[in-house]
Amino acid sequence: MNGRLCEGRVVIVTGGGRGLGRAHALALAAEGATVVVNDLGVTLDGSAPDGCPAAAVVDEIGRSGGRAIASTDDVATWTGAQCLIRGAVDAFGRLDGLVCNAGTLLDRDLVDMSESNWDSVITTHLKGHAAPLHHAARHWRAVAEQTGDSTGGRVVLTASTAGIWGDAGRTNYNAAKAGIVLLGRTAAIELARDGVCVNVIAPFARTRMTISLDAGLAAAPTPDRFDPVDPANASPLVVWLCSDESAGVNGEVFEVHAGHLGIVQPPRRGPHVEVDHRWLPAELGAAVDGLLASRPAAR
Ligand SMILES: NC(=O)c1ccc[n+]([C@@H]2O[C@H](COP(=O)([O-])OP(=O)(O)OC[C@H]3O[C@@H](n4cnc5c(N)ncnc54)[C@H](O)[C@@H]3O)[C@@H](O)[C@H]2O)c1
Repeated sequence: MNGRLCEGRVVIVTGGGRGLGRAHALALAAEGATVVVNDLGVTLDGSAPDGCPAAAVVDEIGRSGGRAIASTDDVATWTGAQCLIRGAVDAFGRLDGLVCNAGTLLDRDLVDMSESNWDSVITTHLKGHAAPLHHAARHWRAVAEQTGDSTGGRVVLTASTAGIWGDAGRTNYNAAKAGIVLLGRTAAIELARDGVCVNVIAPFARTRMTISLDAGLAAAPTPDRFDPVDPANASPLVVWLCSDESAGVNGEVFEVHAGHLGIVQPPRRGPHVEVDHRWLPAELGAAVDGLLASRPAAR
């Protein structure tokens, strides 16, 4: 069993009971990781309990000869996230990777958005990524200070192309995902001193989340043909980012779907113009027209 990419590593996958998270958990276990499969088990909009998917994935990993334990902690609370990180370290004596993936969907146009629609999605995604990352970071900082060594910790956060390029109908989700990109880039800078790499993925796959938006995705894949929307298509990148091999890759944002792998450039300053005085309102129309005309295409 030697030579597997994550042999001996302990990795947490949040929202690991279904969809993309389940695929990541299975792939990590197949590459030798001991996996903590975390899933609160909630409906797509997060409003009600919906089974024990984490336990089912743990059983699946066990049947394939892998090692996993289940967690039903709510990662969108500071205490739930703390229990998750502590539980992994108490059970296995170490933590090597954290894949933040848990999420819910409650799409609304901005004009129809209620305060609870907004809070629910921002909390599950943005706080649900920040809270486990905070507690994992504290763990790795303590290990680095105790041993004086690089921890080799790895973090994968889950954004979305919708939170990078934007689209209509889900301002809560897109704002949360955009926040996750900056959470990742900032944590990558802060945690580099502990030898922790933090990267972000923007996947696309057939899961209950995307089937709720496009029922056509529910169609069964063609047997013996590459399935471009299989959630497992994103998992090899997650496995690699959780391994030692990805040392030095830090603060990146990857687009991954089907056979596509790309990196998203950080925002860059565009064209600019300067004058030697405070701008006058009357000058700005021509100045802005000039800047817009000279900027490169958005993507
Ligand atoms: N499916 C896609 O194409 C796609 C595209 C871009 C981004 N994403 C992101 O990928 C991630 C996984 O999405 P999916 O499509 O597999 O959805 P999914 O609904 O199949 O899985 C999400 C899982 O998260 C769990 N969860 C929700 N709130 C939780 C909480 N507070 N604590 C612990 N677990 C919780 C749910 O029970 C569920 O099992 C999400 O962050 C989603 O926004 C998905």
